[in-house]
Amino acid sequence: MHNHLTVVTHPLVQHKLTLMREKDTSTNSFRRLLREISQLLAYEITREMEMTTKRIETPLCPMDAPVIDGKKLALISILRAGNGLLDGVLELIPAARVGFVGLYRDPETLQPVQYYYKVPASLEDRLVIALDPMLATGNSSAAAIDLLKKSGAKNIRFMCLLAAPEGVARMKEAHPDVPIVTAALDSHLNDHGYIVPGLGDAGDRMFGTK
Ligand code: URA
Repeated sequence: MHNHLTVVTHPLVQHKLTLMREKDTSTNSFRRLLREISQLLAYEITREMEMTTKRIETPLCPMDAPVIDGKKLALISILRAGNGLLDGVLELIPAARVGFVGLYRDPETLQPVQYYYKVPASLEDRLVIALDPMLATGNSSAAAIDLLKKSGAKNIRFMCLLAAPEGVARMKEAHPDVPIVTAALDSHLNDHGYIVPGLGDAGDRMFGTK
């Protein structure tokens, strides 16, 4: 993956995203749409995975058939909204290893603080896909990637549903080696750190909390 930012403009992704943005979309539909979009984004983000061949026999003859090479993927959910992307991607890639990063923002310093961190072994040998639907300021995403790099991850990609230009810039400055795949690049952040036009609080919308 060569571009720092890839916006997946496929009509299915864009149509589903519009349904998700609408304020009256139910929790049930929101969750289902997120799962569906996550699989379409996964298709894009894994496009250049290394392949090898395996000798198999079809009912007609032997052949060297393509299979994915090397160690399994590691999917890292940035809690809690990352879990909405995780569910769909895991359906598509059920053998992937899974990790979780929990960060909250210290109300005084406004810096991300880690409250949970559990990731698979041998991150250095894996393609690591970090998942967070909303790339807003980029502070927590950049901090999560810092942690993954400290654990040895070298080949990291970041999947989100919506990105704000501020978040993309922050990630580019902190982690220029981490390509971002998103369904849309929105206009800006408002004074409360929400993406505009956005879709509101992704965690609240997918879990039905307020
Ligand atoms: N997180 C969200 O859930 N929504 C935003 O708009 C920004 C950050």
